[in-house]
Amino acid sequence: MKDEVSGLAMSDFATKVVTWQKLHGRNDLPWQNTRDPYRVWLSEIMLQQTQVSTVLDYFPRFLSRFPDVGSLARAPLDDVLGLWSGLGYYSRARNLHRCALDVMSLHGGVFPQTAIALQTLPGIGRSTAAAIASLCFGERVAILDGNVKRVLSRVLGYDRDLALAANERLLWDEAGQLLPTLNLQHAMPRYTQGVMDLGATVCTSKKPSCTICPLTGTCVARRLGQPDRYPVKSRKVKRSSQSIWLLWAQTPDASVFLLKRPVPGVWGGLYCFPLFDDRETLVENVPTVLRAALEDAPTIGHVLTHKDLFLHPVRVTLASDELVGSPGIWVGADQWPGLGLPAPIRKLLIQG
Ligand code: ADE
Repeated sequence: MKDEVSGLAMSDFATKVVTWQKLHGRNDLPWQNTRDPYRVWLSEIMLQQTQVSTVLDYFPRFLSRFPDVGSLARAPLDDVLGLWSGLGYYSRARNLHRCALDVMSLHGGVFPQTAIALQTLPGIGRSTAAAIASLCFGERVAILDGNVKRVLSRVLGYDRDLALAANERLLWDEAGQLLPTLNLQHAMPRYTQGVMDLGATVCTSKKPSCTICPLTGTCVARRLGQPDRYPVKSRKVKRSSQSIWLLWAQTPDASVFLLKRPVPGVWGGLYCFPLFDDRETLVENVPTVLRAALEDAPTIGHVLTHKDLFLHPVRVTLASDELVGSPGIWVGADQWPGLGLPAPIRKLLIQG
């Protein structure tokens, strides 16, 4: 009897989320209203570190160039990085391509249908695997991305430090207990989308809208008047800063001198100006005859995940695509816009 009562209370939570999602959640995003795992996977990877508004721009373009997993697998990695250009976190694009190749070679071109199997693919972690499996196949499996950690830790009043893996595992267990128990084919996609939507639109990290939240009556953080206390995470990422000098060589007809960045490393696999740790080293790498023509352009700030970059472009215009003195290739004005370029480099080149 007791179990039945607690079972009821749990499905009550799931029912509230499912009902709220239907009425107030996001239901017209271009990766919704489909159970095609290719589209759902692509959107989930794009949404991992990028806002919905940006993904709305990239997702349809990506899909029209690569309409299915086979076309993505057959494309050269450079084309994939080119279309990803500006989305950042380029390891996602490299993993996306590797994942497409694995789906073709190991799974006969068909995405696996369980979270456990999906997790074996490159770039698909536990939460992304669960999102795909629940949204596409109705599997009863929990997601736990940053937004959902916030929702659940507040509702449950879960105040253990999530910097510790053991505490995060316990929250995964809690997340599993709260899942719908009935009518999973219908309820699971709604529930998964619902907890995501609550985290993104109602249970926001600053100024949550508790008065319109379907969980307000059962939320421990709300009762304590302390939503800001959750989730608890002690470890702060140390930010560092770095200055980089960029050799921006160009011809009058706007060919530019670029070098493919090594992997792993900042902007791995993307095309970039030759980079140097200091101005002296840059100058040493330019033929003596060109040194007097070097011109310093304004410094640009660029924020990476754990690092503030200060980019110092040093420009030189050459009569033709002659030797610059550092490794790299000349790329014509009709070619470079289609390459995978770091966002700040593309911006510089477009501004000219
Ligand atoms: N963020 C991660 N997955 C999402 C989804 N399916 N819809 C909206 N935002 C998301």
